[in-house]
Amino acid sequence: MKIVAFYYTQTGQALEILHSVCRPLTEAGHEVVYKTIVPETPFPFPWTYDSFFQAFPESRQGIACAVKRMELDEVADAGLVIIAYQTWFLSPSLPVQGFFRDEAVRTFLRGKYVVTIDGCRNMWVMSHIKILENIEQCGGVLTGNIVLQDRHPNLVSVIPIVRWLIGGKKEKSSIFPAAGVSQKDIDGAAVFGKQIARTLADDDLPNLQEKLMHNGAIKYKPDIVFIEKIGHRLFGVWSKFILRKGGYGAPQRAFRLKLFKYYLFVVLYLISPVGLLAFYLTYPFRYRAIGKDRLKQCFM
Ligand SMILES: Cc1cc2nc3c(=O)[nH]c(=O)nc-3n(C[C@H](O)[C@H](O)[C@H](O)COP(=O)(O)O)c2cc1C
Repeated sequence: MKIVAFYYTQTGQALEILHSVCRPLTEAGHEVVYKTIVPETPFPFPWTYDSFFQAFPESRQGIACAVKRMELDEVADAGLVIIAYQTWFLSPSLPVQGFFRDEAVRTFLRGKYVVTIDGCRNMWVMSHIKILENIEQCGGVLTGNIVLQDRHPNLVSVIPIVRWLIGGKKEKSSIFPAAGVSQKDIDGAAVFGKQIARTLADDDLPNLQEKLMHNGAIKYKPDIVFIEKIGHRLFGVWSKFILRKGGYGAPQRAFRLKLFKYYLFVVLYLISPVGLLAFYLTYPFRYRAIGKDRLKQCFM
């Protein structure tokens, strides 16, 4: 089968995960065609604080950036689509949002089975919901969702990721662990490719996610999802507040972006531990709802 694998990546992490997933597919005799998503105006890496927060309001409000047109004729007969992406500010990254806005891509996805792979820090649920909506609006069928994340506790992984994205240093320091998805998890993602290959051999794509779940495709953490949902709502308010001062790069919004930056660090280190405490204290009352929610997130 021909499989097309779309990806966007700044550091190479999403592509490394994608390679790991696709290797067993190639070994099983499938043809994998890689297609990179390229923004018209590239995003910097490493970021500066200013450029990093500049991407926030548009990411959260779904104001996609333009991406370069892709040659899709050669993959028109692909039987499976894989999209490797990353989360930015609890939403799909701007280039990936741009990918879904492209009319040619939207037409291409109609009727296609799609597997998504998110390589993020630890908050992926809201961006997954948006990706799912995009796929469905195009008439595609999401049949698999794989999430690779930093396994360190929420507050431990914040400083390494800032050091990585803004300082360009991924490796561990004397105090902090290495940032991002661990090499072990990246290499281990081959297990998902093997599962996809087996499922293709059984002609059973509609049931792929159930099988991927047995391989640990998603580690659902209800406490993190709890704070993510609150954060997503507040990000909605903040992004509208900033956008009132102008669009991407407008100098008039610089002050509000700065306020948001301070807000984010305060929230991460002062408010989110309180939020987590509230979550654990009310856990017995949430237990049933979490059970239902978990199923919803895993299989959608
Ligand atoms: C602007 C920006 C915002 C990000 N926001 C989040 C986030 O909300 N949740 C999360 O889990 N990871 C977040 N990350 C980390 C990314 O999802 C991703 O793991 C990292 O940028 C590496 O991706 P790459 O494949 O582009 O190199 C963010 C990264 C960037 C650059």
